[in-house]
Amino acid sequence: MFTANPLTGSKPEQYRQLLQQARALLHGESDRIANAANLSALVYSALPDLNWVGFYFFDGSELVVGPFQGLPACVRIPLDRGVCGAAARTRQTQRVDDVHAFPGHIACDGASRSELVVPLVDADGKLVGVFDLDSPLPARFDADDQAGLEALAASLLDT
Ligand code: SME
Repeated sequence: MFTANPLTGSKPEQYRQLLQQARALLHGESDRIANAANLSALVYSALPDLNWVGFYFFDGSELVVGPFQGLPACVRIPLDRGVCGAAARTRQTQRVDDVHAFPGHIACDGASRSELVVPLVDADGKLVGVFDLDSPLPARFDADDQAGLEALAASLLDT
């Protein structure tokens, strides 16, 4: 049984603890779907004020929804659409304080107000997909969240 350990200390310290939990959870398993499912569940249950956490994987032409926590989401996202498409296309994390002000934002859950999307690029430089987090709060994600969630996203690629 998985026992959640409450995160303590400063935000960077909390992300260090969460990364350790993620590494322990993923250790010894190389199935990417299984690991993405567990990583989504871990992050969704550990961090406050989130309404969607999950993965889209690149199928060679567009992003296709993978394991996630939250309401059912749009299945396919072309790279020229939405915050997820922008992260995949530019290979740079997109931190959006107000999704309504982001041109082309795709509203899967009308409650979403801010969003962070981390691109997943493997060691060979190939686009794997994106790690997407939505919050019902405006400006939910700061630079500490971005750094912590980029490290968590990278832990999936290490498996
Ligand atoms: N809002 C995203 C779409 C995915 S959902 O948030 C789950 C976007 O604009 O790319």
